[in-house]
Amino acid sequence: MDFSFPKLILKPSPLPFFLSVFQAKRQGRHNHRCSKWNAIITGAASGIGEATARLFASHGATVVIADIQDELGSAVAASIGVDNCSYVHCDVTEEAQVESAVRYAVSKHGRLDIMFSNAGLAFISPSILELDLGDFDKVMSVNVRGTAAALKHAGRAMVAAGIRGSIICTGSIASFQSGNGPAGYVASKHAVLGLVRAAAADLGQHGIRVNCVSPSGVATPLCCGAAGMTPEEVEQLTASISSLKGAVFKVNHVAAAALFLASEESGFISGHNLIIDGGSTVVNSTFLQIFEQASIGA
Ligand SMILES: NC(=O)c1ccc[n+]([C@@H]2O[C@H](COP(=O)([O-])OP(=O)(O)OC[C@H]3O[C@@H](n4cnc5c(N)ncnc54)[C@H](O)[C@@H]3O)[C@@H](O)[C@H]2O)c1
Repeated sequence: MDFSFPKLILKPSPLPFFLSVFQAKRQGRHNHRCSKWNAIITGAASGIGEATARLFASHGATVVIADIQDELGSAVAASIGVDNCSYVHCDVTEEAQVESAVRYAVSKHGRLDIMFSNAGLAFISPSILELDLGDFDKVMSVNVRGTAAALKHAGRAMVAAGIRGSIICTGSIASFQSGNGPAGYVASKHAVLGLVRAAAADLGQHGIRVNCVSPSGVATPLCCGAAGMTPEEVEQLTASISSLKGAVFKVNHVAAAALFLASEESGFISGHNLIIDGGSTVVNSTFLQIFEQASIGA
């Protein structure tokens, strides 16, 4: 029996596709997946946040960069373009500043569709035996309190305006595993994932999706500073622990994941932790090493 469908009926006409590509080219855009979005990205003066601001803007979104590095943040916003990007000073540990950053974005662009809560801090501490509780408080304040404030105030703005928006928070592979950072950082990222899951329940009632992106080590000032490594050394280390070989982990990989979670393409995904680690955390490399040694000895 022949189950093939009549080709003439199913084959789509190429004309509308070519027309849309032609129109997009004429208008100088490549793919406007987020042309109606207004987004806030915390911690976007640098690293992952900056890459995401540039990617969102290149897809037609307007972006408010919320950070504490005023000079750098303003320069990034200016380089993206005054029409679709602006900078606002916002220390995420201060709830009032997060609230006013959200108010600024809503008054400037009329609505808030996307919050990327990404600002974060890491510190060096070899063992819990030497844990400095002052450092612990600081990392909890930025990573956890800052995320809670972003979820609360972005959520409020979206609920008030009836917007079925998307909130993305930056976790880490430390959100579900230890050994990849000091105790305070690991605890803070576990808490970020907890907040994401709790907020997915609360804000899901209003049609708002809440998700997490969780990268492994990617060469940014935060990672290089905490690890005491050059960008090249971070890239080599991440490559060595990844199961996926031949790819170099870059901030743009994380930005692309954030774009997916912000877009309608992820329209039924909420409460998810999207791990971006080249398969490093699903493989127990201890076993691989044992098998390798056994095969060498055989
Ligand atoms: N780089 C990595 O390997 C890696 C891995 C997993 C998770 N992360 C997470 O990614 C996020 C972004 O970090 P990054 O790697 O791009 O580093 P980064 O240093 O390039 O960026 C962090 C940004 O956060 C801002 N920031 C710090 N404290 C702030 C505060 N109180 N209020 C507002 N902004 C503040 C900084 O000014 C900076 O612009 C962080 O949450 C980090 O924990 C990074």
